[in-house]
Amino acid sequence: MVQNYKMYIGGEWLSGETYFDDLNPASEEVLARFSSGTAKDVDRAVDAAQDAFKKWSRTPPPLRGRMLLRVAEVLREEKERLGKLVATEMGKVMPEALGDVQEAIDTFEYFAGEGRRLFGHTTTSELKNKFCMTIRRPVGVMGLITPWNFPIAIPSWKLAPALVCGNTVVFKPSSDTPLCAYELVKILEKAGVPPGVVNMVTGSAAAVGEAIVKHPKIEGISFTGSKTTGEWIVKNAGLKKVGLELGGKNPIIVMEDADLELAVEGILWGAFGTTGQRCTATSRVIAHKKVKNKLLGTLAARAQKLRLGSGTEKTTDVGPLINRAAVEKTDNYVQIGKKEGAKLICGGKRPAGKGFFYQPTIFDSVTKDMRIAKEEIFGPVLSIIEFEKLDEAIEIANSVEYGLSSSIYTRDVNNAFRAIERIESGITYVNSSTIGAEVHLPFGGVKGTGHTREAGILGIDEFSNMKTAYIDYSGKLQKAQIDTGD
Ligand code: UN1
Repeated sequence: MVQNYKMYIGGEWLSGETYFDDLNPASEEVLARFSSGTAKDVDRAVDAAQDAFKKWSRTPPPLRGRMLLRVAEVLREEKERLGKLVATEMGKVMPEALGDVQEAIDTFEYFAGEGRRLFGHTTTSELKNKFCMTIRRPVGVMGLITPWNFPIAIPSWKLAPALVCGNTVVFKPSSDTPLCAYELVKILEKAGVPPGVVNMVTGSAAAVGEAIVKHPKIEGISFTGSKTTGEWIVKNAGLKKVGLELGGKNPIIVMEDADLELAVEGILWGAFGTTGQRCTATSRVIAHKKVKNKLLGTLAARAQKLRLGSGTEKTTDVGPLINRAAVEKTDNYVQIGKKEGAKLICGGKRPAGKGFFYQPTIFDSVTKDMRIAKEEIFGPVLSIIEFEKLDEAIEIANSVEYGLSSSIYTRDVNNAFRAIERIESGITYVNSSTIGAEVHLPFGGVKGTGHTREAGILGIDEFSNMKTAYIDYSGKLQKAQIDTGD
């Protein structure tokens, strides 16, 4: 029996008038039915969040932090069950699905500690008997709009800092993974997050997403997803505080002196891990002319051996794509690549049978101006581009509109530092893949990826506003810029 699931508003579970199907991408079976929320539900959620804000924003941050720690504890107890759910609903393989949950545990633990920091700073005054400092204040009611590719981790990246900073939220999860979101919200409820502090409205971008983005009582939006949607949000959010984590077209540069075996491991992991569905996925290998053929030979041999299947099966290396549209988009790019004159080395097909599968695909002889080298595919498609000098490799790396992650394989420390300094991306790895960011470091991009930083200490900035306080204890009127302070 397929169950109908409700929305969480003001601490109550409420059903919508209609429902949408939540599919298992490996079998195409309906896993669950979720309420199709409307703008009215968003209104109710915002009202509940506004109401809860009064108390939550005044709860001492260490107590808010303690609640986050409880969330981390429950997540840890439920890790195995949630991991299986991630593998089933989103499709990634079990080790990665468990990693998704672990990333959420780490995030809640990390931001729990932030409850006892939330640092501002103190500084001098140009006047005598005057004290200056900054303190962090919550933004207000915030709208969190999250993708399906890290269905537990990414909502946690937003929920944990939003809550510790004292915001209340309206959370709209992706319609491809609402069950993971539901389980996460259940855990927040179990951990004692008060009614109205977290509200979840499921449903479409057109109905729920738009209502959140345009809502006059929502002060901030945090969104992870496509560049197109990010641009739409910027145009429609008015003067809200907007945080964006958009796409990537992440390169790995392989130098002539690289450890090629290590590079192959990193490339396969970055390009075909999570079936290429990470915004940090490796989608371009920029390989030195002298090592390219050798690298390509090993890569293709290894890619062809990767076994497709359900994420829940132990034998699976590469799970399904998230939905039919993703298969079509991937295939469309493969056809574009062929037409553009790139050389298809392996893959390039969807296997017969049920499930949204696509073969790991490698294109050689790609040039930086081809669409497959510039546009985000979000599927298991890798483009190989050749270069001769590091300057040229960096220029190719920077020739796209995105700038999230990047990597260089080299044994030469000079090459490594040049790449770190000059690649236009928020993250650069040396001798490791483009994926695998840790939660206590800032995560985010430049250029078309958006400029927000999530996770790490800077993750707090998106969910708080700095307030400046001046305390004058001179007992007289002192005028900045006019009085000398003598
Ligand atoms: C994403 O794909 O949106 O660094 C996030 C990584 C993961 C997070 C990816 N920790 O690959």
